[in-house]
Amino acid sequence: MRILIHKSSKKLNKWLAHHIVRKIKKAQNKSDKPYVLGLPTGSSPEGVYKELVKLYKAGKISFKNVITFNMDEYVGIPEDHPQSYHYFMKYHLFDHIDIPKENIHILDGNAKDLKEECKSFENKIVAVGGIDLFLGGIGPDGHIAFNEPASSLSSRTRVKTLTYDTIEANSRFFDNDISKVPTTALTVGVGTVMDARELVIIIKGYKKARALQKVVEDGVNHMWTVSMLQLHRYGTICCDDDSTMELKVGTVKYFKDIEAKAINNLPVIDI
Ligand code: GLP
Repeated sequence: MRILIHKSSKKLNKWLAHHIVRKIKKAQNKSDKPYVLGLPTGSSPEGVYKELVKLYKAGKISFKNVITFNMDEYVGIPEDHPQSYHYFMKYHLFDHIDIPKENIHILDGNAKDLKEECKSFENKIVAVGGIDLFLGGIGPDGHIAFNEPASSLSSRTRVKTLTYDTIEANSRFFDNDISKVPTTALTVGVGTVMDARELVIIIKGYKKARALQKVVEDGVNHMWTVSMLQLHRYGTICCDDDSTMELKVGTVKYFKDIEAKAINNLPVIDI
């Protein structure tokens, strides 16, 4: 696992946006096959999307040959609700870049048959040859997408009941009113995320420090579903200084030393 500790959010966002652009370009120089991205919502990726939009507007990248799959969506709120993940993605990314509409895939939380919706989402991922790079964030309890503690570590896309912790954490987006937060969601599974050829997880802020400690210094554990990252061949955590507060001083030093040795700060992972 690669752990990149950035001095600030700004630096993290820049590095990650450039990393994504570099990966898209590299793949597209090799073949016409569309590059497939898995994408999260939440405050963690907001700055990365802002940087990607900047790079697009500066003519550094086109998303015409990119396909996206979002991680999750609430059940039962309209797509145009300001807190729906459909709305979030349009607002922060899709409305500002040249990605064709038909290349965007977000789970439909209002589908008549939610089970069928999840199954067809998985099939669509397979049909495009799998996800090249899955970008993710985590909840304070270490959940990835909406794979709450004790989710099966080989789970696939499905309907999930949200825990009180998650509902409480996300109530900040619903006027701090817990009763307004949807209680169920559709989410890719841990297994779905693990199938991606590369995984990059953003972990920012002191609130996520305990989760980061679990993922980096403890073992794989279904109570911290993001810890599955340890079993991925090409897994990276992009974190900031604040989130490292619960790590041992020696652990932080170890990962900082490795990165300082990377020539010209080029990614060690190059698949
Ligand atoms: C929700 C989403 C996750 C996201 C998490 C953290 O629970 N389902 O995909 O990673 O929130 O959000 P934030 O980045 O706002 O802390």
